[in-house]
Amino acid sequence: MSDTPSSAPDSDALTRAAASGAPDVLRLRGLVVARGGREVVRDVSLDITPGEVTALLGPNGAGKSSLVLAVGGVLPLKAGSVLLGERDLARRRPERIRRAGLAIVPEGRRLLPDLTVDENLRVATYSLKAEQAKAGRARALELFPELEKRLTNQARALSGGEQQMLVLAQALVSEPRFVIIDELSLGLAPVVIQRLIPTIHSVAESGIGVLLIEQFATVALGLANRAYVMEGGRIQYAGHAQELREKPDLLHSAYLLRGQPSGAVPAPAESGLPAAG
Ligand SMILES: Nc1ncnc2c1ncn2[C@@H]1O[C@H](COP(=O)(O)OP(=O)(O)OP(=O)(O)O)[C@@H](O)[C@H]1O
Ligand SMILES: [Mg+2]
Repeated sequence: MSDTPSSAPDSDALTRAAASGAPDVLRLRGLVVARGGREVVRDVSLDITPGEVTALLGPNGAGKSSLVLAVGGVLPLKAGSVLLGERDLARRRPERIRRAGLAIVPEGRRLLPDLTVDENLRVATYSLKAEQAKAGRARALELFPELEKRLTNQARALSGGEQQMLVLAQALVSEPRFVIIDELSLGLAPVVIQRLIPTIHSVAESGIGVLLIEQFATVALGLANRAYVMEGGRIQYAGHAQELREKPDLLHSAYLLRGQPSGAVPAPAESGLPAAG
């Protein structure tokens, strides 16, 4: 079952894609991250394709968040490359990585609670040129009309779902080419998760490559084209999300479909979550 991460496009395919002017794939190659003297991410390679959602699943402690933080320049990378076209973004500073077109939404929300929604968005555009900040802000508010109505409210007054929308909007104001979202649904009610799902679809449809880390496999696999399963710091499965939807036994780490708190997300048939395919 465990196709290797090299179901990534081969180098000929990448050369052809470059020649045809197709947008670049973001390629993570051989990433190693150590924390507390222990390697918690070990030789991880994966691809994030523009215009698609790629799911990264895995149990608690698998190393998903450590991977995200290292790709975003927040934790040191012990080895590996983060390839965007010709450029290797590995070990660059977070601002530089974001400027290159890769935005990170880390696990847990980080808003400035005393500032308004509008001010939180402005904080996220401070390094952009005025024109770009204006366009990015308009685009983010188009995706989250709920926020437009709350611009003058303090962030602390938002509901959990609205706060998550603001966190996503902050990542999108810089109009990134790729966004990595760590735990979209953390602590959110099912009805709120339902609202976020079409938004993630729209983000991908706009051409952005999305890497979605998500505790609810049904949500992630409903959105994703490709999926990876990480356990013990390694990629244990790389393949099509559809395959995992159709053959859930492939998710041999049974937690993925089993370990959902009761009532958190109903089965796809009842919940109206995107159907397979
Ligand atoms: N600050 C830290 N110092 C030392 N070890 C850490 C630290 N944070 C996390 N770890 C360890 O790194 C490993 C990977 O943790 P990580 O948070 O990346 O996993 P995860 O896949 O994101 O899990 P979850 O699904 O619970 O968010 C775990 O064994 C964890 O105990
Ligand atoms: Mg995590």
